[in-house]
Formats: sequence, C-alpha cells, structure tokens
Amino acid sequence: MTMPRAEITGWGKYVPGKVLTNDDLSKMVDTNDEWITARTGIKKRHIRTEADTTTSMACAAAHEALAVAGLTPADLDLIVVANSSPDYLLPAPANLIQHQLGAKCPALTLAAGCSGWVYSLVTASQFIQTGAYKNIIVIGVELISYAIDYTDRSTCVLFGDGAAAVILQPSQTEAGVMTFELGSDGEHAQHLMVPGGGTRKPLSQEVVDNREMYIRMNGQEVFKFATRKLISCLHNITGSAGMSPADLDLIIPHQANLRIIEYAADKLQLPMSKFFINLHKYGNTSTASIPLALVEAIEEGRLKPGDVTGMVAFGSGLSWAGAVIRMGEALAKAQPQAEVEGALV
Ligand code: UT7
Repeated sequence: MTMPRAEITGWGKYVPGKVLTNDDLSKMVDTNDEWITARTGIKKRHIRTEADTTTSMACAAAHEALAVAGLTPADLDLIVVANSSPDYLLPAPANLIQHQLGAKCPALTLAAGCSGWVYSLVTASQFIQTGAYKNIIVIGVELISYAIDYTDRSTCVLFGDGAAAVILQPSQTEAGVMTFELGSDGEHAQHLMVPGGGTRKPLSQEVVDNREMYIRMNGQEVFKFATRKLISCLHNITGSAGMSPADLDLIIPHQANLRIIEYAADKLQLPMSKFFINLHKYGNTSTASIPLALVEAIEEGRLKPGDVTGMVAFGSGLSWAGAVIRMGEALAKAQPQAEVEGALV
C-alpha cells in the first residue's frame, strides 16, 4: 500500500496593521533607507498593535486557511504551531490557539527558529502519510518584535511580525510533500540567540540592564551559513526528487536578506524570477516567513495546480529545513487579484 502524500488544501495569512518603514527606523537608530535597502532589500515591516497577540495572529491566519479548505476547527485532527515568541512561557502557544479556535484536537508547538515552520510542515506530513491524521493545520506565527532591541541597528531593521497557515490533507494524486531535508548545527548556536531570560540566565535586573532578553546576532556568520545552506539544501531536496533546482517552478527561500537570495541565484545560475520574494514588504518574520511567502505566491497566481516548489528555511540553532512540494487541484481555488480585477472590467 502506498502512503498518501500530504497535500496543501487551504492557506491563509495575517499581518498586523502597524507599519514600520525604513524612514521610521532612521528616527529611532543611526540608520537610513539607503543602507537598509542596499544591504537587505527590506523597505518596511509590520509590527504588532496593542490588539495583536501570538494567539490572535495565529487564529486570524488559521481561520482563512480553514475557510479555503472548507473545514471548521472541529474538523481538525492536529494543530502544529511553529513559534519562538509565545504569549507565555507556559502553556505552549498551540494550546491557547486550539482553545481560541474552538478546536478539540491535540496541539503541538515546535520551536526551531526561522526553520520552525518547514520543520512543522515535515512533521505534520508524517502523520498524514502514516494515516494517523487526516486534517492538520500547520501555523507559523511570530510576534518577534517583542525580542527585538530597538536600540540595536544591526538587528532592529531586519525583523517584522506576521502569521500564516496551511491545511494539510491526504492526497489522492501525486500532489503533496515530495522530499525534505531537516538540519541542525547546534555547535554554532551562539551566532543567533537570546542570551537572557531562560534557565541559564533567568530574568534579572542584570539581564534587563545588559539588554540580554533581546536577539543577538553575528550577522556575517549567519549570512555565510545561510548562503551555504540555501544552495546545498536546494540541491539535496531536489536531488531526492530526481530533479535539479532549475526544474522547480518556484523557489520559496526564507525571507531574511535579498543579498542571500541573489548570491544563491548567482551560484545556482538561476534567474531571480525563479525566487519568490516579499521581504521588501514584511522583513524577516522568522518562522512565519516561508508560509507568508507561500500563501502570497498562491494568492498572486505564481503557483498553479501541478507546479512544484522548493522551499528552504534557515536560522537560529543554527538550523535549516527544506521541502519540495507539488501543488494540487486545490490551488485552482486561488484567485489572483489581477485576474479578479480584470474580470470586473
Ligand atoms: O532569520 C535568521 C537568519 N538571519 C540572517 O540570515 C541574517 C544574515 N545576515 C545579514 O543579513 C547581514 O549580515 C546583515 C544585514 C545583518 C548585516 O549586513 P552586513 O553587510 O553583513 O553588514 P555588517 O554587519 O558587516 O556591517 C557593515 C557596517 C558596519 O559599520 P562599520 O563597522 O563598517 O563602520 C555596521 O556597524 O554597517 C554598519 N551597520 C549599519 N549601518 C547603518 C550595521 N547595521 C546598520 C544599519 N544602518 N542598520
């Protein structure tokens, strides 16, 4: 008996209403639009409002995804939430999201930095393949601004908040998650971490005074790691599918820095048009980055039924995760804005 692939049948996203532009940041720290644009490609990012919580952002994306798939929360067999910015240290965010959605199923939280959503997608797809569960929602949500030091120009210009979700169901066809690679390199964990507030350095006045409850990043080391992994992971996940990166209809890279993507495109000898990019609008939304890009690619008609996409995430851990996915007939439900407007004329 062949095991069914896990197919994407619903999708949704949420970004908070507050926008922080490069010019806004230049009034907060010693930076400017020219530097941020040239070094990262980022023009603005969405930041939580008073009304936004990790749970509320996740639920907004989840409701959209459920509606597209024609499901209600009661239909869910499992909720998987990728997150590193929980409402509380305990309980884990997935439990609060389950309650807020009104679902009754088990709820699992997975933390793997910016690689967390692809890790979660791969984890969820195993439950589909074994036949254990039929309707799973995989949510990537990050209220990362809470861990950002808005006096540190080397990190505060990079990150933004957001959430996105997909529904996975057993496929009747070839559509679904085809191959994946998960990776961890804990030896280099120190290059991207929040040093204070955990059990090694519990929250104290000293932690607060040293601003150790915020993200610290060795940008250049992470940059080198990111370019290396984006290229090697794309080769590995497409190779396992009997393909090459050039055979992919669309590549969805972690939206950390345009220069990382340009470097990989150059080394892979692929045009930039093969890569989906929305980091100029949202910055790096950590674990929400890949699903937010995937959802926009679907909504903009960049992915159609039968298309094959390769996604690669990388980040704290240091960690990385990639997957090759064939899109199914559900994508016919997506209505690109341009086509909708065209139809009205
Ligand atoms: O999601 C997790 C994955 N994270 C990543 O993938 C991030 C990877 N790293 C990067 O994207 C880049 O390393 C950064 C965007 C973080 C930094 O870019 P860079 O080209 O590596 O800059 P740099 O750190 O080498 O700094 C160059 C200069 C420095 O000044 P000096 O020492 O040359 O005088 C920095 O102080 O740029 C300065 N600088 C800034 N200047 C204006 C750093 N941040 C800023 C800023 N505005 N915001």
